[in-house]
Amino acid sequence: MEGDIERVLWSEDQISNRICELAAQLNVDFMAATPPIFVGVATGAAVFLADLVRRLSFPVYIDFVRVGSYGFGTQSNGSPTITSDLKLDVSGKHVVLVEDIVDTGNTIARLVSHLESKGASSVSVCTFLDKPSRRKTTFDMVGKGKFYRGFECPDYFVVGYGMDFAELYRNLPYVGVLKPECYRGIAGNQPQN
Ligand code: PRP
Ligand code: MN
Ligand code: MG
Repeated sequence: MEGDIERVLWSEDQISNRICELAAQLNVDFMAATPPIFVGVATGAAVFLADLVRRLSFPVYIDFVRVGSYGFGTQSNGSPTITSDLKLDVSGKHVVLVEDIVDTGNTIARLVSHLESKGASSVSVCTFLDKPSRRKTTFDMVGKGKFYRGFECPDYFVVGYGMDFAELYRNLPYVGVLKPECYRGIAGNQPQN
């Protein structure tokens, strides 16, 4: 698996340092609030969510949603649907949506409006990576919600730290660029996160 990586973009140490900084900011912003719900977007956000919440010094609820927009391949179909909804009731609660990457923005835009319609009093987004160069959809935070991001990602197909290609590579502890020969020849696969 390591041999499939052309180049490492962020090492394990760089990731962990950046998560400490993000957590420090969240600690300031949420310390005085009622416990927020941190909502991970399965599956990609699982690794980041687990590392992030363990750095927080205030109580949080944790929940997950699942959104279907990419199939087994890599093309976004542009209209994500929520295939597994929250377990917790978000009405009147502060929500922090946790993502591994915001790419076109379709997934997060769909989720922000979903949470707003369920009556969340604020919706923030905390994404490990942000790839603004590929944005197709704009989205606004709800209430006093803020947008937090770990790193701005250049337009490469990246894997690791939760992010997959064809459901593999999620458990790499760093973020890397996949060698083209690893996805070449797989029908329908044009790597895009
Ligand atoms: C990936 C990633 C984000 C989304 C970002 O998830 O984890 O959730 O795509 O893309 P967008 O901004 O263009 O919508 P994916 O649908 O591949 O599911 P996964 O998390 O299970 O890999
Ligand atoms: Mn995802
Ligand atoms: Mg994926």
